[in-house]
Amino acid sequence: QTVYLSEYRVPAYLVDHVDLRFELFEEGARVHSTLAVRRNPESEDTSGRLELDGDSLVLEGLQLDGRDLEPGQYENQGDRLVIPEVPEQFGLTVVTWIEPQNNTRLEGLYKSSGMFCTQCEAEGFRCITFFPDRPDVMARFRTRIEADRAGYPVLLSNGNDVERGDLEGGRHFVTWEDPFPKPCYLFALVAGDLVEKRDSFRTCTGREIDLRMYVEPRNADKCDHAMDSLKRSMRWDEDIYGREYDLDIFMIVAVDDFNMGAMENKGLNIFNSSCVLASQDTATDATFQRIEAIVAHEYFHNWSGNRVTCRDWFQLSLKEGFTVFRDSRFSADMGSTTVKRIEDVTLLRTAQFAEDGGPMAHPVRPSSYMEISNFYTLTIYEKGAEVVRMIHTLLGPDLFRKGSDLYFERHDGQAVTTDDFVKAMEDASGRDLTRFRRWYEQAGTPVVTVRDEYDEARQVYRLDIHQTVPDTPGQTGKQPQHIPFALGLLGADGQPLALKLVGDDAPPAEQRVLELTEASHSFEFEGVAARPVPSLLRDFSAPVRVDYPWTREQLLFLMSHDPDGFNRWDAGQRLAVDVIESLVDAGEDAEIEPRLVSAYRHLLTDEGLDQALVAKMLQLPSEAYLIELAAAPRVQQIYRARTRVMNHLAAALREELLACYHRNNGGAEYRLTSDDIARRTLRNTALGWLLEIGDAEGRVLALRQFREADNMTDRLGALRALVNSDYHEDREQVLDAFYQRWQDDPQVVELWFSVQSGSTRGSLEQVRALMEHAAFDWKNPNKVRSVIGVFAGQNLAAFHAEDGSGYRFLAEQVRHLDASNPQIAARLVTPLTRWRKFASVHGEQMKAALETIRDREGLSKDVYEVVHKSLAG
Ligand code: ARG
Ligand code: ZN
Repeated sequence: QTVYLSEYRVPAYLVDHVDLRFELFEEGARVHSTLAVRRNPESEDTSGRLELDGDSLVLEGLQLDGRDLEPGQYENQGDRLVIPEVPEQFGLTVVTWIEPQNNTRLEGLYKSSGMFCTQCEAEGFRCITFFPDRPDVMARFRTRIEADRAGYPVLLSNGNDVERGDLEGGRHFVTWEDPFPKPCYLFALVAGDLVEKRDSFRTCTGREIDLRMYVEPRNADKCDHAMDSLKRSMRWDEDIYGREYDLDIFMIVAVDDFNMGAMENKGLNIFNSSCVLASQDTATDATFQRIEAIVAHEYFHNWSGNRVTCRDWFQLSLKEGFTVFRDSRFSADMGSTTVKRIEDVTLLRTAQFAEDGGPMAHPVRPSSYMEISNFYTLTIYEKGAEVVRMIHTLLGPDLFRKGSDLYFERHDGQAVTTDDFVKAMEDASGRDLTRFRRWYEQAGTPVVTVRDEYDEARQVYRLDIHQTVPDTPGQTGKQPQHIPFALGLLGADGQPLALKLVGDDAPPAEQRVLELTEASHSFEFEGVAARPVPSLLRDFSAPVRVDYPWTREQLLFLMSHDPDGFNRWDAGQRLAVDVIESLVDAGEDAEIEPRLVSAYRHLLTDEGLDQALVAKMLQLPSEAYLIELAAAPRVQQIYRARTRVMNHLAAALREELLACYHRNNGGAEYRLTSDDIARRTLRNTALGWLLEIGDAEGRVLALRQFREADNMTDRLGALRALVNSDYHEDREQVLDAFYQRWQDDPQVVELWFSVQSGSTRGSLEQVRALMEHAAFDWKNPNKVRSVIGVFAGQNLAAFHAEDGSGYRFLAEQVRHLDASNPQIAARLVTPLTRWRKFASVHGEQMKAALETIRDREGLSKDVYEVVHKSLAG
């Protein structure tokens, strides 16, 4: 059942052209596929045997060069169609019958809110027809779609529409032709009653591109933000990477039922509605930003993914890591660079580090998998992006751009490997990245231990740096990795020192990127007049854990003096973590570090500080992050200690919080600038803290804000603050009012669900009640995520309840969902897979819950892999 990278073989047969005809009906769809096939001259397989992939297909017809194949001439094994003897070159026609209306897995062709749509990555095309479903088989597609004209006036596929017309019985057809050869995972089809929003974009060479969005009529007023984001992305990719769009049409479609965020199908991107539709009234600032990032991500895939694609699914990070790096730089350029970095690193350190330390740990380029859907992970995406970012840091922007130009030019139209990417970077820059390649091969988060020594007599400051890469399942005895380690040193006056390394000719600079390539290094800085404070791993220059014995004095010092915005924030986080951890150990009545209060007071009152950064610095480290950092987390104690610190800060800073609230309570027009977003974040953070301590004035402010807000960020901010308070009557009232007002908008209902399921004041019973609510829908992944996923991921005190009820609850939902949507079920299991990390009782209960999933009859491959790997060893 396991697929190995080492067993990769080039395809025995290539497909040059695919001619598809879809007959869409309410009771199913008939797919006629004609392939132009030829033997691959590069394959060593000369057996003459053709094997095609299939899944849940009814085979209705099979012809080779126009002649029906007799039962003995082929074998239909269900997941495989074998024709033992085929010529060197031939045409193959396959007719299949499928039932999109009953497809609850949301892979292949399915129906969502009455429209037909597809999701073919990674292996969904095989649910449509028998085909060599692997990314290194690239073909030109021609697609004719036939459907009832009244029910499905809009018929879309990849490329350009070349023909359309009427058919008998009120039916019609449209034919699409995509001139670019592509793997079948980039195929897409949409048929529905949709409204079209049009715009256009003039490329750098003066070509006019037709931009079209297709949404359900009720969403017609929620397209502007995505359309603007698209145009900004197109411009940015020309400016920064020299990449021009290649087709005449670019289309975006919004669908309600979608397993992931969005999909980069050639010329026809399909989005989860929640990742593309927005209006001031219904979307929060965070949603607006997420939409901009995802629109950019999918658009950027047109080059990093489509024009140059992956040879096999082990290379997934080739397109995903690079594209996340690209979209993250884009977002940084559109808003606050430091805030974007803080957000990326928060996700990485909270969730990717946890993955790297758990049973599903895998390298950025895995070497085996059972179900590829399980490998659309934080490691492939986020760590993969960090790896590309490190190449950028090591080469500098100019050589990096030279490398990416070479990569696109050399591999245009090809299906390649992560190694080809690194090779292009090496060739363009002249740098040796041999050791750097270990980032792709070794799993686990490196630990970089830093110790320092100041020699007053010699005026030399020495750093001893040691790295280790921890063992992970199936991988031990790892080699040192190539780590770009950015740092600066601050003098006692808070000024940066000019760094001069002993025996190094480079001119002094206030920041250096040290390159760690061995297990141990020592660096000596000369001309240092007094012991400095080190600012380590600036801007998080590598995805590693840094171990350095920070004192609270040093952290407070960095919080106010470090010129690196990221490290200022990080110093604040480390200080808060240290304070909370010390309370976990010390018990309920230990004193809370008074300097933490003064540091936060300073943040709240000094209006000269970058307010976007302040808004981030005021967020305490999340419970999930505190749990990740702890070797054997005691969740209830961590939750109580964190809550105690928050209450303490809120009580001590009540006046400052009220002032901050009023100062940022502008009646101005709603705008999406990073300044305005920071103001709303500050205002809602202040509100949340005030209600945390049950402040009466805060309550009045929250109720008024809830009533009067002219945007969803503030309305939801008030709702969340009240839901997380002890004002139970208000809580019920605002929840009710909110639902009454927004019940017809699925995206807003999802917000309404998550505010409740993620609230630490909420109980498991309340979450169960949400699942009984009329708006809950097992068939809609967004609803499942916003109730069950958010509960297990955010309401950690209840999920880790002492009696194990949270674990049993999650296992029960996974077992239920596995029957209809294995992909989502497998993702939902994640919190339970970390059972080894938790203290004995919890760990055993989690393990027992996993075992009840393991024992389900007819377990899907998706869930099987996750559960078995977590229970193994
Ligand atoms: N390629 C898409 C993106 O990241 C993700 C699609 C993943 N689909 C899946 N079934 N795993 O842009
Ligand atoms: Zn992607």
